[in-house]
Amino acid sequence: MYAVVGKSLTKYYKNLKALDSVTFSISAGECFGFLGANGAGKTTLMSMIYGFIMPTSGEIEVLGKKLQKSNLPEIKAKIGVVPQDNNLDPDLSVLENLLVYSRYFDIRKKDAFNRAKNLLKFVGLYEWSNANVRKLSGGMKRKLIFIRGLINDPDLLILDEPTTGLDPRSRKQIWNLIESLKHSGKTIILTTHYMEEAEKLCDKIAMMNKGKILLIDTPENLSIKFGGNLEKVYFEMTED
Ligand SMILES: Nc1ncnc2c1ncn2[C@@H]1O[C@H](COP(=O)(O)OP(=O)(O)OP(=O)(O)O)[C@@H](O)[C@H]1O
Ligand SMILES: [Mg+2]
Repeated sequence: MYAVVGKSLTKYYKNLKALDSVTFSISAGECFGFLGANGAGKTTLMSMIYGFIMPTSGEIEVLGKKLQKSNLPEIKAKIGVVPQDNNLDPDLSVLENLLVYSRYFDIRKKDAFNRAKNLLKFVGLYEWSNANVRKLSGGMKRKLIFIRGLINDPDLLILDEPTTGLDPRSRKQIWNLIESLKHSGKTIILTTHYMEEAEKLCDKIAMMNKGKILLIDTPENLSIKFGGNLEKVYFEMTED
């Protein structure tokens, strides 16, 4: 059973081809990583998987359904998103940011409150519950955005550079969280610029460059093929 299938996905922004006939399949329960240089098309692809942008051509299936406007709300309810950019509401507190977000989903107020509290505790932000988000450091904001993506207990998680800007300890916390989510059976799609992160968390890695997927393989196979050095894969694949 596949969680996400992309078939010849192409996306133009005016004349710019941001995705060029991208084809891939992600099994349910898998952690699948997209790596590639700045501008490779990773965020464009992530936004397509959660239905924020539509492909110019090609087809995408998410959680067993062909993604189209009519079934978008139903599919979105089962997806958790951690966007690359900080889009917290600056006028609200830490807790309010989670509760407001939970209203997009069919979650009872009390359940949302309890879930938010537990998630805040888990990432060490519970004491900050009532603080305005402007007072958080960059890394703390990143953690808050991460747990916000979990508020609807999603089957599929889309993490666009989940640990960028985090210190080593915070990164480890998020890695542990991702691993425990993986063990609980969720499908996880992430983008990253950290080889170590991809190697540690991902069952499969897709290398992207200039809107194309150049290869998809397990970290183990890539490491064998490229002499134990995933960084080398990256530099060879993302050459101009
Ligand atoms: N809304 C947009 N309008 C026009 N061009 C865009 C838009 N979003 C992205 N692009 C362009 O599409 C290409 C792919 O961008 P995208 O953000 O998907 O790359 P990325 O792999 O996520 O990069 P990064 O690692 O820097 O986050 C880039 O050339 C970018 O300039
Ligand atoms: Mg990006």
